[in-house]
Amino acid sequence: MSKTAILQVNGEKYEFPLIVGTENEVAIDISNLRNATNGVITIDPGYKNTGSCESAITFLDGEKGILRYRGYSIEELAEKADFLEVAYLLIFGELPTKEQNDKFHNDIKAQSIVDEDIKKIVEAFPRTAHPMGVISSLTSALTAFNPSSVNVKSEEDMYKAIVKIMGKFPVLVAWTYRKKLGLPLDYGDDSLGYVENILKMMFRQPNACYIQNGVLIDALDKLLILHADHEQNCSTSTVRIVGSSHAGLFASLSAGISALWGPLHGGANQAVLEMLEAIKADDGDTKKYMVKAKDKEDPFRLMGFGHRVYKNFDPRAKIIKKAADEVLSNLGIEDPILDIAKGLEKEALEDPYFVDRKLYPNVDFYSGIIYRGMGIPTEMFTVMFALGRLPGWIAQWREMRLNNEPIGRPRQIYTGETERPFVSLVNR
Ligand code: ACO
Repeated sequence: MSKTAILQVNGEKYEFPLIVGTENEVAIDISNLRNATNGVITIDPGYKNTGSCESAITFLDGEKGILRYRGYSIEELAEKADFLEVAYLLIFGELPTKEQNDKFHNDIKAQSIVDEDIKKIVEAFPRTAHPMGVISSLTSALTAFNPSSVNVKSEEDMYKAIVKIMGKFPVLVAWTYRKKLGLPLDYGDDSLGYVENILKMMFRQPNACYIQNGVLIDALDKLLILHADHEQNCSTSTVRIVGSSHAGLFASLSAGISALWGPLHGGANQAVLEMLEAIKADDGDTKKYMVKAKDKEDPFRLMGFGHRVYKNFDPRAKIIKKAADEVLSNLGIEDPILDIAKGLEKEALEDPYFVDRKLYPNVDFYSGIIYRGMGIPTEMFTVMFALGRLPGWIAQWREMRLNNEPIGRPRQIYTGETERPFVSLVNR
């Protein structure tokens, strides 16, 4: 294959190198385009055809439904690894040895306490505040209490900032949840595994011992692994672009959390549950909602369906669907919402509108059903997604800093007024 691409602009030919990845993905390197052509740029709203970086973290093939972290398939990781091992793998590139894993966990545990004054910030939020707004603010506020994590100058500084946020973020998640429920804010138990500790921090009642449930630990572990990274999606690109200005890790993550909040991204898990609830309240009339989803005059979309990259199936959705069945049957929950979801999926997969547009259930179609079965309120779903995505965001931020990537600064094509004289207020 030729290693260059030829572009013709206004009769002039320009040659650009091709970059080929380890999975044979091909990109035209246009980094010299503007210089070479005297000002011509490319435009690509939504970046549907634009690679923002070279990355060695996550590979996905949307046509074949493949997702791999550092070369390991998501199916194998979800079955055989735990969340902390996956976090280490994503951030540092290799599965940890026993010693590396223990050290990582111990370093995180040593940082699993947040300043007591953060409780005052949590308490100042109204209980009705959306948990995504709360967690994003608290993550940003952490910077004030840990200023040394901002100016990272070495890998050692980065490591310290990383274990800090891996330790403190679950506490903030638990406090966000407990505030919503009016429960006292307290700390975890560092004799426990990372995921067990999260469950205890969230669900422990002030007047009772928390009894761990293996099914819940496994389910949460799996959900966090499945959400841990997804290459250059909206929130990850946000983390990288904010971090590219050398804003600190916590500020970059806080921006990523805000990006994740939207219903077209991580907020879809909340939107899916609300949609399924609405269908249930409407006598389970899935057909009516199918018609609405296909009607171009109606803004309604089938939430949890479709994906920018997966155009065949989302491998995470397959694993989650199975986990949803297991969790609900293990907990002895019969949830009519699960039946509505399965019915809707079946109808959509047989409907030419969805088939032609390659719209399949995505990771969030079933995750909310599991969270609900675990007793987590709908508004907390996207926070749980953020908890899982944390190592992916960190890995992407670290890679971007270690590669010394330039500040992210897209161009534009200006379509506004050309120069015109100012008209004073009295003459307007
Ligand atoms: N319901 C009905 N129609 C849909 C849906 C849907 N969920 N998703 C896409 N379409 C249709 C569009 O109307 C469009 O139709 P057209 O070609 O006739 O105009 C076509 O499918 C292509 O859709 P786009 O919006 O161009 O696809 P894009 O790749 O830009 O969007 C997205 C992907 C945002 C995920 C979209 O499918 C969507 O809104 N889905 C619902 C929200 C959702 O579940 N988001 C979670 C994504 S996963 C995640 O972030 C973790």
